[in-house]
Amino acid sequence: MLVEVGVKEKYLVTYASRYGSTAEIAQHIAGILAKQGWTVDTKPVSEVEDLEIYRGVLIGSAIYSGEWDQAAVEFIKAQQRLLEGLPLAIFMVGMRLRDQSEEMRSTVLAQFEVYQVMLKPLAIGLFAGALFYDKLSPIVRLQLKGKGLPEGDFRDWSAIERWAESLPGLFASTEAAE
Ligand SMILES: Cc1cc2nc3c(=O)[nH]c(=O)nc-3n(C[C@H](O)[C@H](O)[C@H](O)COP(=O)(O)O)c2cc1C
Repeated sequence: MLVEVGVKEKYLVTYASRYGSTAEIAQHIAGILAKQGWTVDTKPVSEVEDLEIYRGVLIGSAIYSGEWDQAAVEFIKAQQRLLEGLPLAIFMVGMRLRDQSEEMRSTVLAQFEVYQVMLKPLAIGLFAGALFYDKLSPIVRLQLKGKGLPEGDFRDWSAIERWAESLPGLFASTEAAE
């Protein structure tokens, strides 16, 4: 029997999510990718142990006070060398992204340009999130009410699906180029 050694079969969808909405987006994306034939692990960035086993990676973070979650930032810094050698895509989730105008998308992309430079992603997903004040501590609730962020679930599952469905083709093009 011919056994191929060193062929990586699996992809990783990893995420940072304090209140769960980004985790659900990550799970949904992983489900779409699995339907397209990928074998996918889905886990929080804090639980990723061995990146070397993966053929490609998706990294997602919610945006809090204009930053990625600290856990995602630490993950990227700690794994930068390995991530540089992997085809990858990133996605971000935020309430400001309820507005999907080109202007808002460009503003958010510019705000997080550092990750584009560091990670050279094949694709970047920018998705509206969900916010429920009863999940937040009184202090955070006050801060956010002051900023005028509304409550509700603004996730656009069809936009998320369309983005996820575009990924296998993009990843395959890099693999063919190797
Ligand atoms: C403390 C806090 C700060 C936030 N700051 C921003 C922000 O700067 N920009 C934005 O677009 N959304 C902001 N949001 C909205 C979150 O990005 C959104 O609710 C997201 O879906 C949360 O993801 P999670 O459920 O995975 O934690 C903030 C939410 C919280 C709780």
